[in-house]
Amino acid sequence: MNYRHAYHAGNFADVLKHAVLARILAYLCKKDAAFRVIDTHSGIGLYDLASDEALKTGEWRNGVGRILESDLSEPLRAYLGPWMGAIRAANGDDNLLVYPGSPMIATTLGRLQDRFLFNELHPEDAQQLDALYSADRRVQISRENGYVTVRAQLPPRERRGVVVIDPPFEEAGEFQRMLRAMQDASRRFATGIQLLWYPIKDQDAVDAFLSEAADTGATRLLCIEQWIREPGGDGPLAGAGMLVVNPPYMLAEETRAIMPELIELLADGPGAGGRVTWLVEEADRSGA
Ligand SMILES: C[S@@+](CC[C@H](N)C(=O)[O-])C[C@H]1O[C@@H](n2cnc3c(N)ncnc32)[C@H](O)[C@@H]1O
Repeated sequence: MNYRHAYHAGNFADVLKHAVLARILAYLCKKDAAFRVIDTHSGIGLYDLASDEALKTGEWRNGVGRILESDLSEPLRAYLGPWMGAIRAANGDDNLLVYPGSPMIATTLGRLQDRFLFNELHPEDAQQLDALYSADRRVQISRENGYVTVRAQLPPRERRGVVVIDPPFEEAGEFQRMLRAMQDASRRFATGIQLLWYPIKDQDAVDAFLSEAADTGATRLLCIEQWIREPGGDGPLAGAGMLVVNPPYMLAEETRAIMPELIELLADGPGAGGRVTWLVEEADRSGA
């Protein structure tokens, strides 16, 4: 387990992943009924952008840094609103000093009645999460293999919520493990939202993953991808994607609408792009 998210926090891939997560949470907050967030690979929750790790790569400067210093169109500002609200809450009136990871975005946007299960296997990262949430009674921390969490914790008592599966992709077989987790989660929590993140490095592997995902029986499955330059090769990460099972109804349309501006803002070389595609749309299954 060598992967540490502290080197990458706030990079281009975090921007879209966390903006989408924040929109899902804003959607869940529209009803008073409590929801649960289950984050199987949580990281440390809050990242110091002046840490040695963040300074070493500086990745956040071309991600959240660019967004905050750009003159955004009104639609993009509105789309990013919940995510930017979580960043403001973490930093107060100061400049950008810290960057909230998926747990902190969830607990900032969640309410008193909502519950959060954050799982992290790395002992030091789990300890930092524990410390961050020692006073928040809404939060439970576990330290097991994240794929076990999916089986052990679903369905949540609230019967509403989102499962975030964001593994490090440092060992072979991660796409297969994610597919199994997606099927497990769908079986146990059919109405739940799932957000599954993946890197775009090997296009053949991604294509195989997406085609198998479309065959898992999910009835609504959205794919959102962005690449900041032509993907491929061994260099730094150029692209990333997400599968969203049971996305909130407007997510596809609103993400598609802001994508061209986001692509332009975060581009880092020739061939930048992105797409929002339904892998399975409800109508496909009904034969309509
Ligand atoms: C990409 S990072 C998570 C980032 C976080 N979800 C966010 O968006 O802020 C992946 C995390 O998974 C942890 N990890 C690695 N293998 C794991 C496993 N089998 N089960 C749970 N966590 C694991 C790593 O220590 C790392 O903190």
